[in-house]
Amino acid sequence: MKGYPQPSFILIALGIMVVSVFLLWFVNILPLTSYQKVDQEVGKLIGLSQANLSEPWRISMTEEITQQAKQYPDMRVVITDAVDSSERQVDDVRRLLAYGIDLLIISPTDSQVLTPVVTEAYKTIPVIVLDRAVEGYDYTLYIGPDNQLIGRETGRSVSELLGKSGGTVWEIQGRAGSPPTIDRSTGLRQEIERHPGIRLTKTVTADWLRDQAEDALSALLAKSPIPDVIVSQNDAMAYGAILATKKAGISNIKFIGVDGLEGANGGLELVRKGLLTATFICPTGGKEAVNYAWDILEKKPGIPKKIYLRTRKITAETVNTNVDPYASFRHPRSNKEPIRLGFAQVGSESRWRLTNTKSIKDAARDAGIELIFIDGQQKQEKQIEAIRSFIRQKVDIIAFSPIVESGWEPVLQEAKEAGIPVILSDREVDIKDDSLWATFIGSDFLEEGRRAARWLLSYMQQHPTPDGIINIVELQGTVGSAPALDRKRGFETTLAAHKEYRIIRSEIANFYFDQGRDVMKRILETEQNRIDVLFAHNDDMALGAIQSIEAAGLNPGKDIVIVSVDAVKEAFQAMIAGKLNCTVECTPLLGPQLMKVIQDYFDGKELPTRIITSEEVFPAEVARAVLPKRRY
Ligand code: AHR
Repeated sequence: MKGYPQPSFILIALGIMVVSVFLLWFVNILPLTSYQKVDQEVGKLIGLSQANLSEPWRISMTEEITQQAKQYPDMRVVITDAVDSSERQVDDVRRLLAYGIDLLIISPTDSQVLTPVVTEAYKTIPVIVLDRAVEGYDYTLYIGPDNQLIGRETGRSVSELLGKSGGTVWEIQGRAGSPPTIDRSTGLRQEIERHPGIRLTKTVTADWLRDQAEDALSALLAKSPIPDVIVSQNDAMAYGAILATKKAGISNIKFIGVDGLEGANGGLELVRKGLLTATFICPTGGKEAVNYAWDILEKKPGIPKKIYLRTRKITAETVNTNVDPYASFRHPRSNKEPIRLGFAQVGSESRWRLTNTKSIKDAARDAGIELIFIDGQQKQEKQIEAIRSFIRQKVDIIAFSPIVESGWEPVLQEAKEAGIPVILSDREVDIKDDSLWATFIGSDFLEEGRRAARWLLSYMQQHPTPDGIINIVELQGTVGSAPALDRKRGFETTLAAHKEYRIIRSEIANFYFDQGRDVMKRILETEQNRIDVLFAHNDDMALGAIQSIEAAGLNPGKDIVIVSVDAVKEAFQAMIAGKLNCTVECTPLLGPQLMKVIQDYFDGKELPTRIITSEEVFPAEVARAVLPKRRY
C-alpha cells in the first residue's frame, strides 16, 4: 500500500544512512546495497560492476581490486555482483551511477548487451572495461589478458613436450565464439603450424566448465585414438579431462591449462600434484585497473585505450618457488639520477614520423628523462647499430620503432644479456621469444585496415558504381613493416566476403609522398579508367597520389574514392578541398605514454605486454569541424 513513511521507518532509514556514511569513511570496500546518492566527499569512489562472484577467476579479480585500492589513501570501492545476468548488470551500472561513483570498472557478462549502458556511463564518468571488451570505443580504457599470447604459449609448451618426433594434440575450448576462445585457439594453432610433426586432431567445446569437459572427453576417449597432449583453455576443463582419463584408465596423456589460480583443484594445485604439466596465469587485470583508475582520476597524461596483460608459465619447477617471474618486466629504482633512454627511430619518411619524433623528444624533456635519440634513416642495420651503441653506453632502457618485423633476435638477445629492457614503440616485431621485449606501445594496425574497409563498404553503399564492381588500387607502406602487413590484412579480410570489391593493383610506395605520387602515376598510365577506389596505407602516399590523379585529368575524391591512414592535418585539408574521402587515425603522439610506461617500470609496476592507443575514423563530412582541434 502506498502512503507516507512511518516515523519509525524514517528513523531506521536515517540510522542506516549514518552507518553507511561512517562505513564509507572508514572502510575501503563496500557492497552496494542502496540506491542513495553519496553526497559526501569520499575521495575517489570507484564502482566495480562484476559479472559474477562465483567463478574463482572473478573472485580473484575482485580481491585484487579491493586489495590494490587499499594502497591508495583516498580511494573507496563499491561492488555489485550481476550473478551472470546481463540484465542485472545493466541495472547494477545504473545503481552505481546513481550512487555517485567517480569512475566505473566493469567486467561485463555479455559484451553486446552491456555496450549501451557502458556508453551511457562514459558520457559522465571515466569507464575501465576489464577482461571482456564491449563493442565500439565508448570507454576510457580496456584492460584484458593477451589471449593470443596465452594461446601461443600453450602451443610452445606442446612443442617443448613433443620435441622433433612430434605427436597429436586435442584442444578443449571455452564458450564457442567468445573472444578468449577464438584468440587462445588462434595462438595455439599459429604455434602448432610451425611444427610439421605436431597435429591438432580434435577440438572439443566445453563452455569453460569442468563437468562438461569431463563428459565430452569421456565420450571421445571411448571412440578415438588417444592424443599425446591435451591443451585446455582453462584449468577447470583440464581437470574435467583429467578425471575422464582417470576413469578410462588412461595415464599417459599430458595436460596443459590456463588460469593458474590457487585453491582446491585450481591450476596451481593441479601442477603441484603433477596432474597438469603446465598452466599459464591468466591475469585478471584487477591491480592494473585500480592503478589506472587512480591515474585517470588524477588526470595524468599518457592513458592508453587498451592494455593487454602478460601471462607466465607455471610448471612443477616454478610452482613453489618465490622467484619473481615478472622480475624482468619491472624494476624498482632507488637511484635518483635521471633515467637514460636510448631511442632508435625508423627515419623521417612521413609527417606522421616527424610528429612522432617530436612527441618523444618533448615528452622525455617534460618527464625529466635523458634521451639519446638516433635516426635509423630507414635502414634496419642502422637501427641495430643504434641499439648496440645504447648497450655500450649502458642506458637504463631502450625503446625503438622497428622498421620491419623480423630479424631482431640477436640484438634483442644482446640487450637482454646486458640487463637492459626494450620497449617496442609504434611497430611490433615478429619473434618467437616474447621475453626479448618488455612491452609494446602503439596502434592496432590490423584494426586500422579493417576500419578503412568498413568505412569503404558503407560509403560505397551510398555511392554505388554503375556496374556494381569496385576496383581498388592499394598503395602499401614499407615492405615487411608491421603497419603495411597488418593494414593490408585487415583491409583484405574485411572485404573478403564482398566479391564485388577487387584489389586490381597493390604496389609498394614505402609511406613516402613522392613514391605515392610516382607509383600512382605509373598505375594510372595503364588503369586510368578502371580505378574506383584508392586505399593508401598512409596519408602521405595518398596526398602524393592525389597530385598524379589530378595531373591525369581526374577528380580525386570524386572519380576515385580515396581512403588512407594517419589523420594528419594535411589529410583534413585535402578532405575539406573534396580530394580525400576518409582518413583512419593512427596517432603518432606516443611520447607521453612511452614516458609513463618507463616511469611505471622504474617505479616497480608490472608492464603489460601491449598498450594500444586511442583512435578514430574521420570521414570528409567531419573534417571542417575537427581540423581546428587536431594536434598534428
Ligand atoms: O608505423 C606507423 C606508420 O609509419 C605511419 O602510418 C606512417 O605514416 C609512418 O611512416
